[in-house]
Amino acid sequence: MSINHPNFGKIADNQVIIFDTTLRDGEQAPGFSMTADEKVRMATALATLGVDVMEAGFPAASPNDFESVRRIATSVIGPVIAALSRAAPSDIERSAEALKPARRRRIHTFIATSELHMAQKLRMSPEQVIETIKGSVTLARNFTDDVEWSAEDASRTDLDFLCRAVETAIRAGATTINLPDTVGYALPGDYANMFALVRARVPGADQVIFSAHCHNDLGLAVANSLAAVGAGARQIEGAINGIGERAGNTAIEEVAMAVRTRSDSLPYRINMDTRQILKASKLLSGITGFDVQPNKAIVGRNAFAHEAGIHQDGMLKNALTYEIMTPESVGWSKSSLVLGKHSGRAAFKDKLVSLGYAELSQAAIDEAFTRFKDLADRKKTIYDEDVEALVDETAAEAQGRIHLVDMVAHAHSDGKAEATVTLKVDGVDKTATGHGDGAVHAAFTAIRTVFPHEAALNLFSINAITEGADAQARTTVRLEEDGRIVDGQGSDTDTIVSASRAYVHALNKLIAKRERTIQLSPAFLTA
Ligand code: KIV
Ligand code: ZN
Repeated sequence: MSINHPNFGKIADNQVIIFDTTLRDGEQAPGFSMTADEKVRMATALATLGVDVMEAGFPAASPNDFESVRRIATSVIGPVIAALSRAAPSDIERSAEALKPARRRRIHTFIATSELHMAQKLRMSPEQVIETIKGSVTLARNFTDDVEWSAEDASRTDLDFLCRAVETAIRAGATTINLPDTVGYALPGDYANMFALVRARVPGADQVIFSAHCHNDLGLAVANSLAAVGAGARQIEGAINGIGERAGNTAIEEVAMAVRTRSDSLPYRINMDTRQILKASKLLSGITGFDVQPNKAIVGRNAFAHEAGIHQDGMLKNALTYEIMTPESVGWSKSSLVLGKHSGRAAFKDKLVSLGYAELSQAAIDEAFTRFKDLADRKKTIYDEDVEALVDETAAEAQGRIHLVDMVAHAHSDGKAEATVTLKVDGVDKTATGHGDGAVHAAFTAIRTVFPHEAALNLFSINAITEGADAQARTTVRLEEDGRIVDGQGSDTDTIVSASRAYVHALNKLIAKRERTIQLSPAFLTA
């Protein structure tokens, strides 16, 4: 029977709702935190991609989360905007407040239901959990008709208790019931059985949407999500590039292409415009600084590359020999060569719009154009990836207190090096010289002298953005201070400058993070 949903109206039996949690579960992963501006940009790309529901954040977690949800609710049109809340009334009220401007909104509230989580983490009895479910869902329904309730650690929950908990949530007014595999423990058969049994046993189950939310600890998140749909779930939760806690969440681009490519076995409808997948994936990598691995399904650099002679021969004769979907269907285009030294402001602006930067201010475009011209003097051909790196960095630098003004480095063949760095700190130029084993070490020592701090350098990685000897180096630097982890990115045709930019970016993020107050109480931390 088809369901009449408060935000979607009548939903066809074979419709699968795509619930994106890139900005919430995805953003929770270490090093993936985003600023409010970055979240709004990502949210706009997700809306263009056509996700049905977008979980914009966890408003009670921090003032920045609240602000991000509010801004997305105000400006992003299309998807239902959801906000996560623990079962506490103050969390639910905070979500309701942040979601107020949204045209269509959903409050998502959760509590753990497995014996392990109830006893060890929540220190609550099963009866207290049932009462809390009733209270939290009832309260959420006061603010919106669209309420999702999640049984955290559902896949390790006693089935009888899970049915009681689900029944309580439905009676209290939940319209979506999410049964997460919070720790990525389930196998597809077990996960499907859980959905089949709960749907068969719980009164009112045919009036709500069941949702799958899987973590990828065993590499089974996509398989488990599709198995759940086979057992009647009609919403899949996931994130672009599969980002999320630990090994990540279900990669929504993989779900979408599995459904589109294997419609013979998966006769479901999804709303996503899959040609927008690559753009969203690249935007996320640009913002977070984490590229996907080359062999990542759908969005990896090698996903449609054919190296072996026998494969190339087959491809030339008929692409179907080795391609089960076309690269264009997920947004890959044959030419990514874009601009050069002689390209003018108009061509640059056109390129920005086609890369998803339509909302940039004139000042940001001007600043990016100046940097583009500078880069074009040093690099013959400028690719999409170069433009993206340049714009992302210009935007990040505009928000920071520290800016790299100048640097000179000398490295000797015995490994000793010296670097002199000038930073603008709160508008004032400061210079220092550092020494080290290699030029990067010397430059970082100089930065530490100009701006003293105790953060530890935990990760340093460097990759070429595109091909060729004049390619830009893209650096990621991870700093940690008092449990706060931040990643900074920088790029330049010079490796040492790229590394220094990344270090300065990480420092700016660390300063911003120090200023945020984290209001989570440990008992309610999400998995
Ligand atoms: O993994 C999980 O259980 C979650 C819930 C908060 C939905 O992320
Ligand atoms: Zn999760």
